[in-house]
Amino acid sequence: MIKSRYHITENVLIASKTYRLVLVPLSFRAEPEGSSLSFRAEPGGWSREICHGEFVDIALPGFYLRRPLSICDREDGKLTVVYKVVGEGTKALAGMLPGTELEVLTGLGNVFDPEACREEALLIGGGLGVPPLYLLAKELKARGKKVTAVLGFNKAEEIILADEFRAVCDEVLVSTVDGSVGVKGFVTDAIAAASPSYDFFYTCGPMVMMKVVCNTLEGPGEASLEERMGCGAGFCYGCSIQTKNGPRRVCKDGPVFKKEELLW
Ligand SMILES: Cc1cc2nc3c(=O)[nH]c(=O)nc-3n(C[C@H](O)[C@H](O)[C@H](O)COP(=O)(O)OP(=O)(O)OC[C@H]3O[C@@H](n4cnc5c(N)ncnc54)[C@H](O)[C@@H]3O)c2cc1C
Ligand code: FES
Repeated sequence: MIKSRYHITENVLIASKTYRLVLVPLSFRAEPEGSSLSFRAEPGGWSREICHGEFVDIALPGFYLRRPLSICDREDGKLTVVYKVVGEGTKALAGMLPGTELEVLTGLGNVFDPEACREEALLIGGGLGVPPLYLLAKELKARGKKVTAVLGFNKAEEIILADEFRAVCDEVLVSTVDGSVGVKGFVTDAIAAASPSYDFFYTCGPMVMMKVVCNTLEGPGEASLEERMGCGAGFCYGCSIQTKNGPRRVCKDGPVFKKEELLW
């Protein structure tokens, strides 16, 4: 676990109530000669490679608990997170301007295993479960895998990252519950309609979606779970879930779990 200070370089609305937040560790900020900045982070999360499926835990001034958010992308010393405003914490985050400094924990939990895919990967994301699959898609393509992504949303105004996935993946299928874009229905309807080939699937999204995905899709896979978190670092057991291997902490033993380990 690494505690570092980052500053916001971008915090913009990209879809309904949904923002893209770009963070840069303080040590990457070009400081003028003789700067009086008192805190200079070691190269923050960058002393350990940030991986596909990893989350950061962000301290927000005035809020006791940190807020966990998945890493969507990392590039050129920047971390990108995509978040939806659902309560007071994310509302406060949405009001923060570029230049605002935040304390961020990185190096938490586990990550998706790109080596589990032999040749063809199926990525299934729902809503705010889509962002962490983006970095995974890039990693799988870098390893020469064929990648199909299925992205599910409620309606057109909530669609995020579809163009970014199209730029990386071999095939991208979009479903919307109201049928405004792509296949009408859920991600499972899009999968049933297209029957994409795969030897391993990776999923992240609402629990009900992942339950259906894990129970209906053939073959092995991994799911990245979301639980309310306290400490975010394995101490409080507030995020424990029951698995076939006994209780597990989502923040420390997860958030990524093998399909066969999960009890729904
Ligand atoms: C590992 C992990 C990764 C996550 N990645 C993302 C992400 O990439 N983008 C994103 O938008 N959100 C993500 N979340 C959810 C995000 O952490 C919560 O939406 C956020 O903490 C809510 O803070 P708040 O103060 O705005 O809302 P609160 O006032 O704390 O809660 C508002 C509402 O949101 C619900 N809620 C809060 N936290 C969670 C949670 N962890 N799981 C399910 N429901 C919750 C509450 O039950 C309540 O109904 C992630 C959560 C986890 C555990
Ligand atoms: S949130 Fe404390 S152990 Fe997971």
